[in-house]
Amino acid sequence: MPKNAVKTVFVCQKCGSSFPKWMGKCLDCGSWNSLVEEKILKKPEFRPEGKLSSSPIPLNQIELHKEVRTKTEVSELDRVLGGGMVKGGVVLVGGDPGIGKSTLLLKTAEKIAAKRRKVLYVTGEESVTQIKLRADRMKINSSEIQVLTETDPFVILQVLKRESPSLVVIDSIQTMNSQELESAPGSISQIRECAAQLSSFAKTYGCSLFLIGHVTKEGAIAGPKVLEHMVDTVLYFEGDKSYTYRILRAVKNRFGPSGEIGVFQMAQDGLKEIPEPSQVFLSERKKNLSGSAVVCALEGTRPILLELQALTSPTNYGMPQRVAAGVDQKRLSLLLAILEKRVGVNVGAFDVFVNIAGGIRVEEPAIDLGTVIAIVSSFKDAPVDQNSVVIGEVGLDGEVRAVSQIEPRIKEAEKLGFKKCIIPRWNQRNLNKKFEIESVGVGEIDETVNLVLTHKSREEL
Ligand code: TYD
Ligand code: MG
Repeated sequence: MPKNAVKTVFVCQKCGSSFPKWMGKCLDCGSWNSLVEEKILKKPEFRPEGKLSSSPIPLNQIELHKEVRTKTEVSELDRVLGGGMVKGGVVLVGGDPGIGKSTLLLKTAEKIAAKRRKVLYVTGEESVTQIKLRADRMKINSSEIQVLTETDPFVILQVLKRESPSLVVIDSIQTMNSQELESAPGSISQIRECAAQLSSFAKTYGCSLFLIGHVTKEGAIAGPKVLEHMVDTVLYFEGDKSYTYRILRAVKNRFGPSGEIGVFQMAQDGLKEIPEPSQVFLSERKKNLSGSAVVCALEGTRPILLELQALTSPTNYGMPQRVAAGVDQKRLSLLLAILEKRVGVNVGAFDVFVNIAGGIRVEEPAIDLGTVIAIVSSFKDAPVDQNSVVIGEVGLDGEVRAVSQIEPRIKEAEKLGFKKCIIPRWNQRNLNKKFEIESVGVGEIDETVNLVLTHKSREEL
């Protein structure tokens, strides 16, 4: 092969594996028809020996520089970032199209600009007019926010060097198109290359860089997922489009805790932060209805009270339906099996629907007991005591297992005016603090059912 010939590889657009030849199926992830030809640039191979100046440093001689943080003043974003944006830090904000990523970052841009710092908002997706329309809607007007419509990272870098902003927003990384590569914008190699060029600038010049990435229809993999290892922080903006609540979740954070969430509400004039999510998520709760239990999920460091709703109704078809919104479908099947086998609640001939009100998704097992209670409550048409919060994981034997960080959860229930907390017995024995709210330890599902179900049907109340 001649020295300067362009090498071509076939890259799987789902998992990023590369192969020398085209195949119908990716050998690594097994997806069909996902290989796309991409050219890779060969770097010059001239590397004179002796000029390489890398040398290791003993661990005890490495100096610690505390990262320089700037609060974005969007409190929910600051919480998720671990206290503010970091100088030289690269943050990926992923999410479905239309969920509110551009809105969130325009709001952030405004707050940073209000500190008299320069912001460069690069858009490859929308025109300046569209950005202006959004800004008008959000009542944002600032001379410190510069808007640039450009997709070539080479040009963007020139502008960045000239303007040296504190915050750079790239909306979105999928529209970036480096001329050095021939593959189409949005392909894995383009995304990687452009992100690498931009983040090395951010690291060298010490600006904070936010990359917006759309999650593709097939799932997160072909989009922002390929960037996760290249950036410092990965945030996902999620939410059910039919609700106005939006959750910003830190999936990875080199500069702070991961797993932390921020809660927002999309309003007519932009995103509003919700510092007290429990109140909002419980606000529409109808009391004394069967099939509803209040649970407490710990998201990052923050306990959030949520209403878990369940509905059981006799199956009309042969196969009963199990529909879960906000909780894991498999976990629901498991809990139903436990209910049948260990508690004798025969839901086999019933359709079961479970939903977390507000469109929030919870993966924590501490809501198991509440889920089970809500299902039994609907099944027996007996409301759950409206002043109780139910906390606990359920084991395969139907036993109630301990959960982590029980105290902040009880405190949250107390703060919201509940009278009783049903908690795992082990947690109850090991409680260190005294609370005003009554807490009751339980070891079995049965016991919990007797404790919290009012055994009154709706008519009697
Ligand atoms: P957008 O930030 O454009 O989403 P993304 O960048 O993630 O694709 O927001 C899209 C939706 O938000 C759009 O359907 C309109 C709605 N929206 C509001 O409800 N209020 C507002 O103030 C703004 C700016 C948008
Ligand atoms: Mg957008």
